[in-house]
Amino acid sequence: MDITIVPDAQAVAHVAAERIAEVIRSAPAAGAVIGVATGSSPLGTYGALAERVASGALDTANVTAFALDEYVGLDPAHPESYHSVIRRTVTEPLGLDPARVHVPDGAAADIDAACEDYERRIAEAGGVDLQLLGIGANGHIGFNEPTSSFASRTRMKTLAPQTRADNARFFDSADDVPMHCVTQGLGTILDARRLLLVAQGESKADAVAAMIEGPVASLCPASALQMHRRATVVIDRAAASKLRLTEYYEFVQAHRPGGAG
Ligand code: F6R
Repeated sequence: MDITIVPDAQAVAHVAAERIAEVIRSAPAAGAVIGVATGSSPLGTYGALAERVASGALDTANVTAFALDEYVGLDPAHPESYHSVIRRTVTEPLGLDPARVHVPDGAAADIDAACEDYERRIAEAGGVDLQLLGIGANGHIGFNEPTSSFASRTRMKTLAPQTRADNARFFDSADDVPMHCVTQGLGTILDARRLLLVAQGESKADAVAAMIEGPVASLCPASALQMHRRATVVIDRAAASKLRLTEYYEFVQAHRPGGAG
């Protein structure tokens, strides 16, 4: 795992945006396929990418995007549906073609068929070049809660009580947070050619330590990143505060082969 520890959230956004911009710039003519996350963690990264687009430093015309997850039982027009959140925080600021932005369908009459269709669309796009991830305080990625199968594909899940409590800040009351969701599986996420996880703040420190230094275990779904060939984690000092080998990661960061550190 490639671990980059930076001073603060602003630096996380800058480093992550640059990694994503490189993938977009180096993609073949058909364009890059980027996996996008919702939640607070990637907002700075989207902002930093939007600045590059606005200044003409980055062309996103050919970018295709796939979101990780969506609530079930929430009108897609609701401001906190991930259809709305992705439009507001990704599609519009990054100037993406809405026809190329995909979000799982949590309102489908046949959810299983919609999940299969989502997997099919990812495959037809040629797979995901880079998947951007946040991490839940309980170690989830996407909405793959603890004990999710590492082989799982896009499917319907029940949200953990902690996740519903964490996400209550986006709704009028905790009871308004949907109980169910559709999420890409851990197997789906691991199929992406690159993974890029961003985390900021002390509330993520335990989950980050378990992901990087704990055993590969379904109790911490993000520990699946240990099994990926090209997983990068960009975190600020607060999110890194419970790591045991911080000095070693900083040493490696300063002495990367080719001087990329
Ligand atoms: C959202 C998602 C979740 C979040 C995680 C962290 O699409 O996949 O795994 O990344 O819940 O949320 P924040 O960033 O709000 O702390």
